[in-house]
Amino acid sequence: EAIEKGGYDHFMLKEIFEQPKSIGDCLRGRLQAKEGKLVLGGIFDYVTKTVNADRILIIACGTSWHAGLVAEYIFEEFCRIPVEVEYASEFRYRNPIVNEKDVVIAISQSGETADTLAAIELAKSKGATIIGVCNVVGSSIARATHAGSYTHAGPEIGVASTKAFTAQISVLTMMALMIAEKKGSLSESKYRALLFELESVPEKVAKALLLNDQLEEIAKVFKDARNFLYLGRGFNFPVALEGALKLKEISYIHAEGYPAAEMKHGPIALIDEEMPVVVIATKDSSYEKIVSNVQEVKARKGKVIAVVSEGDTEIPKMADYVIEVPHISDALMPLIAVIPLQLLSYHIAVMRGCNVDQPRNLAKSVTVE
Ligand code: G6P
Repeated sequence: EAIEKGGYDHFMLKEIFEQPKSIGDCLRGRLQAKEGKLVLGGIFDYVTKTVNADRILIIACGTSWHAGLVAEYIFEEFCRIPVEVEYASEFRYRNPIVNEKDVVIAISQSGETADTLAAIELAKSKGATIIGVCNVVGSSIARATHAGSYTHAGPEIGVASTKAFTAQISVLTMMALMIAEKKGSLSESKYRALLFELESVPEKVAKALLLNDQLEEIAKVFKDARNFLYLGRGFNFPVALEGALKLKEISYIHAEGYPAAEMKHGPIALIDEEMPVVVIATKDSSYEKIVSNVQEVKARKGKVIAVVSEGDTEIPKMADYVIEVPHISDALMPLIAVIPLQLLSYHIAVMRGCNVDQPRNLAKSVTVE
């Protein structure tokens, strides 16, 4: 097992550090920015169908559902097709309205999640086209779908998903770009620029991983916290949810992720000097708004741990701890911003003596209801 961990103390840490490679593997052979080429062979025949779809339904559970939420923002922005993101377990039991013009994207690392599989069968029986985004080749979900693209992240052993999440977002981004190009919903120059930016993600993730020591220091300060709040807006809202999920899964600290503006409708009541608030405040179209959210937290004496874009000067004046990540455009930021949050939860869990790779009560793959 020590050999399999490749010198890391835990599979989770190894998998976090593998991300420049796993994202690179996911993009390889599919994306060539210089040539303006992007091809996901597995969905090639279904691109036109998706361009003409009435809507896209995304179905998943857990971390894969968070990747689906990021994809909602990306598909709507790039493709201008309405998207709904569904928890597989809710979708399958509520007599959902689905028809032949719907395209369903089912996301699953393991490809074996019982609820996701059942939701796929239901949507299929109503005539929808099903596209899979799976990591495990030959898995039940990969076989149950009409078409799909693998994430090629390699085996993920840690129960808390890390590299599968970033690979899922990478595949979903490529899907959205392929569909947008076919539809003509993105300008040629924007499309080209995004291809280059996507190609730069592994390098930027590698840079974000250099924050590891800093996150270990921050973890020391907050390891005994009883609650955490995670805030983000726009593309980074699902990142807040994922950051909170990572922390609760492996450290057993109660954590909530929230869209930053919703804070005033509830969570703000919880904020006092005991409450660490992780804010994803990178430079994007929501930046000015999130600056005010940080001010609201500080006014109530909350401790702000802010993830910001390199070179930001405004948030560092207010935040207690500042984590600088490389800049990238809004839609791709989740791939970078999630890295420090994975590392923070990892270090806190280790310091609390938790079983990081196999947290209590959780299973890597939930094959029963
Ligand atoms: C379990 C795992 C999570 C995972 C979720 C969905 O809860 O512990 O890490 O995100 O199932 O699994 P899937 O294999 O369908 O992505």
